[in-house]
Amino acid sequence: MKVLGIESSCDETGVALVETGAVVPQLRAQALHSQVDMHQAYGGVVPELASRDHIRRVLPLAQQVLREAGCELADIDVVAYTRGPGLAGALLVGAGIACALGAALGRPVLGVHHLEGHLLSPFLSADPPEFPFVALLVSGGHTQLMEVDGVGQYLLLGETIDDAAGEAFDKSAKLLGLGYPGGPALSELAQQGDATAFKLPRPLLHSGDLDFSFAGLKTAVLVQAKKLGVDLAARKADLAASTEAAIVDVLVRKSLAALDRTGLKRMVVAGGVGANRLLREQLNAACAKRHVRVHYPELHLCTDNGAMIAMAAALRIQAGVEAPRLTYAFDVKPRWALGEVVSG
Ligand code: KG4
Ligand code: ZN
Repeated sequence: MKVLGIESSCDETGVALVETGAVVPQLRAQALHSQVDMHQAYGGVVPELASRDHIRRVLPLAQQVLREAGCELADIDVVAYTRGPGLAGALLVGAGIACALGAALGRPVLGVHHLEGHLLSPFLSADPPEFPFVALLVSGGHTQLMEVDGVGQYLLLGETIDDAAGEAFDKSAKLLGLGYPGGPALSELAQQGDATAFKLPRPLLHSGDLDFSFAGLKTAVLVQAKKLGVDLAARKADLAASTEAAIVDVLVRKSLAALDRTGLKRMVVAGGVGANRLLREQLNAACAKRHVRVHYPELHLCTDNGAMIAMAAALRIQAGVEAPRLTYAFDVKPRWALGEVVSG
């Protein structure tokens, strides 16, 4: 069965074709257009511009994917799209195109939870994980620790009570004048800095639960930046390194606590922040000591893409968790808790 996946929840238009049949569904082709250059001038995502750009990109990307996979429209068995969470207008583009395609081809459609896409994205790698595992989901909008026992079987262990980890990277980067998206820029600058230069808070580290809080960090970065005044330029790399270290330290320690609590020996890290070099280094080192395997999506699949949406749909169908539908009335869910897609 060939599943076409469409992602349009934020600032990336992604389309991909995944085929079921093997033990793990296989990626046949994918194409992506990032809007980063377009939004850069505004210092962040402009929702209306995002929607309009998705409209321009999605069909050419779909045609490219079909061409690369050596398929035609009629070969598509299911059309999957990101139903939420995300920007309402942006989501509507993907949902509208997917349902129109489904209706025109007489094929069923399936709305996918964006975070489930991230969560299952390591299944696109050459060395996919096996269930069960602890998942650390770290994106621009979410920071969650989960116990994942199978497709659709997600138990929330802890989450952020305010800003997400990606948001902490982005907001701190903005304070340091590093532009958007801030995560990769801050991380790159941090490589030239001293991570011990500034003492920054590690909130909720000893809270005894698996929740996170990152809102205080950006305030602390702001206070330090103000204190430095004109010296900030010379100390920017040190402040970036100290910020990255604080975020990564909390993510790693809470992940280890989640492994302790569940007794599981396998971890998956997904979402944009999963691309962070320091997070990978420190988590790998800590987990190696505990004989825990850590799986990541391939670097280019950490941030938003169509492959993870097609894969999540294919896995849901293959596991019998959800059947695609032949009705084409659609809605999107800009706010949507992952817990709502948990199967019995
Ligand atoms: O998963 P994603 O593409 O979008 C959401 O679903 O939110 O994640 C984007 C987030 C942004 O906050 C971005 O700054 C962050 O991931 N990010 C990184 C890195 N690459 C992307 N943060 C730290 N280090 C990176 N290398
Ligand atoms: Zn995402």
